[in-house]
Amino acid sequence: MNRTAQTHHPIHTLLKDRWSPRAFSDRPVEQEKLLAVLEAARWSASAMNEQPWRFIVATKDNPAEFEKAVSCLKEGNLRWAKDAPVLIFTTVKKSYTKFDRPNRTAFYDLGLAVSNLTVQATELGLHTHQMGGIEFDKIREVYHIPEDYEVVTGIALGYYGHIEQLPDDLQEREKGPRVRKPLSEIIFAETWAEPASFVPQNKA
Ligand SMILES: Cc1cc2nc3c(=O)[nH]c(=O)nc-3n(C[C@H](O)[C@H](O)[C@H](O)COP(=O)(O)O)c2cc1C
Repeated sequence: MNRTAQTHHPIHTLLKDRWSPRAFSDRPVEQEKLLAVLEAARWSASAMNEQPWRFIVATKDNPAEFEKAVSCLKEGNLRWAKDAPVLIFTTVKKSYTKFDRPNRTAFYDLGLAVSNLTVQATELGLHTHQMGGIEFDKIREVYHIPEDYEVVTGIALGYYGHIEQLPDDLQEREKGPRVRKPLSEIIFAETWAEPASFVPQNKA
């Protein structure tokens, strides 16, 4: 399904083409592609090069591990994410390893790494769907995640399937319009909420 963003200004095709589907095919993700997607995350920038991200990855090739991951999804996501061949949980280390202080930008760094991951996945013909609807406490418990790490998101990864495989309500959401706030609402200059003068006002 083509859900390319209708942008107001030209952007890279990989950014326009990324979207978050629910209808995942059960086609396995080739190991070299999975590794490439994770390698892209690895090469992200991070404050002090701390690389605070850690990923838990479950593939359908290992049914027991995959079931464990599925059991950590909230019901709303479980409905569709169980079809994806790869489930990832993202976690982040909240304090610096080299210094005795909190890492203020740890979540930011993780987001950058996941952004890399999504772009690489798109390049390889894969899709990602990130999820906040996961069982945080259960994930911490079943994967023995240490105190200093926060469980942040889940990510479904795989090839697109068929919209018809989804229940009716999810088919509707899958086809819904892709919307974004205009630049004038998010780019300020002189003071808060005053759009920068270079941002066109006529593009709502
Ligand atoms: C941190 C984060 C958490 C999200 N949580 C969920 C979720 O729990 N369930 C869901 O269906 N989509 C979730 N999404 C997907 C967003 O709804 C989606 O990215 C947004 O609507 C924009 O659509 P697009 O990714 O197709 O451009 C999440 C996205 C992010 C980045």
